[in-house]
Amino acid sequence: AIVEHTFNVGNLSISQLCQPARIITAVNGQLPGPTIKAREGDTVVVHLVNLSPYNMTIHWHGVFQRGTPWADGPAMVTQCPVKPGGNYTYRFNVTDQEGTLWWHAHISFLRATVYGALVIRPRAGAKAYPFPKPHREETVILGEWWNANVYDLERMAFMTAMPAVHADAYTINGKPGDFYNCSDANQTYKFQVRQNERILLRIINAALNTPLFFKVANHSFTVVGADAAYTTPYATDVVAIAPGQTVDALMVAGATAAGGRYYMAASPYDSAVPNGPPFSQTTATAVVEYAGSPSTPPVLPPMPAYNDTATAFRFFSNLTALVLPGKPTVPLAADVHMFVTVGLGVSDCMPDQLLCNRSTTHFSSSMNNASFVLPKSVSMLQAHYAGDDTAAGVYTRDFPDAPPVIFDYTADASDNATMQYTAKSTKVRTLRFNETVEMVLQNTRLIAKESHPMHLHGFNFFVLAQGFGNYDAATAVPKFNLVNPQERNTIAVPTGGWAVIRFVANNPGMWFMHCHFDAHLDLGLAMVFEVQNGPTAETSVPPPPRDLPKC
Ligand code: C2O
Repeated sequence: AIVEHTFNVGNLSISQLCQPARIITAVNGQLPGPTIKAREGDTVVVHLVNLSPYNMTIHWHGVFQRGTPWADGPAMVTQCPVKPGGNYTYRFNVTDQEGTLWWHAHISFLRATVYGALVIRPRAGAKAYPFPKPHREETVILGEWWNANVYDLERMAFMTAMPAVHADAYTINGKPGDFYNCSDANQTYKFQVRQNERILLRIINAALNTPLFFKVANHSFTVVGADAAYTTPYATDVVAIAPGQTVDALMVAGATAAGGRYYMAASPYDSAVPNGPPFSQTTATAVVEYAGSPSTPPVLPPMPAYNDTATAFRFFSNLTALVLPGKPTVPLAADVHMFVTVGLGVSDCMPDQLLCNRSTTHFSSSMNNASFVLPKSVSMLQAHYAGDDTAAGVYTRDFPDAPPVIFDYTADASDNATMQYTAKSTKVRTLRFNETVEMVLQNTRLIAKESHPMHLHGFNFFVLAQGFGNYDAATAVPKFNLVNPQERNTIAVPTGGWAVIRFVANNPGMWFMHCHFDAHLDLGLAMVFEVQNGPTAETSVPPPPRDLPKC
């Protein structure tokens, strides 16, 4: 079937947290934007009409885009932006994946308010969920709210190369909840439930820069999926979720026979900061209300501390895939082995940056010491499609498979000049069609130690292992899960640690890989895989759609 939507991106006037009404950029006047509901195998068609004053693109986070690389959406990677007054139709299939994905603007910080859910249910009649049928499904989108124009915020952060300031509130389905100053009843999202209902929560972390813990007071969950891949049922009372990730969790409404009111809550996980958090520790809340209950004050769940890495790691590392017949399994060997550092540093200046000098307050970020810059005049996919001569003027094929020096990645190596200083460049790693890639992602502790959520466009990857400290093949390889590793499109690389992922490059095109903290993406924590065409027309990049925007 065809699932068709028109997304009018434009101004929405909204007032939260005692601020005067503010104009934000939103789709169809909604925050969050519309939910796209499809079944596996459907074709999704979205007409983007840009009525906003900003350049715009939409990315379908986690959709493979096999055969439709022009619909992926990251600005200047697969397309030029849609200018104010312009439009573009995204057309793609959702095949070979079921569960929860989402969509968001992929330009500037505009995804702060331009986002929504993309739900993929099993094909009609073909098969049901591989878990007890829920009575009801709810999307729970966690986000951040800024008392500022996020476009201006991004320009300022970019031009001064300073990390962005932190959000003014976390939100659940666009609303901060009861614990912020001036929150009122209109600013708290409510879920009505009935006794003994089994509810499938489709949880999405759409926050710009913050991993979150998620709980519901007096209720626990069975996790059944993550990033639109089914997982072995996993029982837990807390979910950890990094920006970009999704978690599907069953919750049974049976807290007490008497019903009642309970807070659903999201609070920050940030292990980075040695001297206490620079961010709000206020918990975002929504209310889970049993039908017929008196409106007594809801119960708040005890939330993990903001730096509770043990709880986050337990959740992230305990998930395994539900192995189903006909599903791809993990490749047992790799053709390409990469060891890639991800982290912060300092760098030279961009032409349009202000206040730029080589001091330690001039932040940058990089992968293998290459700090990524988007091209300006043509998208990388257009350059790739046009051929080597055009590509040569837009990007270089020398993204390194290893960092320039080996050092103690998880020590404070801020005096390591080679690793600290990083040059701006647009480097890609070229892969042959169907090559299998293994990447060790190693977090560094240059400037700060963080859990970078690394997102790969165009593919799911298998997570073979993850741990703390410096990656050591001798001890890690014997622990690789080659039986039922979780499949993801975004991995929260453990703070001061590493993760090993594998994927098969079976999708020709230009695929962004980057930190899903927007502040880090801007500073260069990114690279691109250039996947060459296969032997047939079906395994080659097709010609661009006629309405592809021009720069
Ligand atoms: Cu959800 Cu490149 O992003």
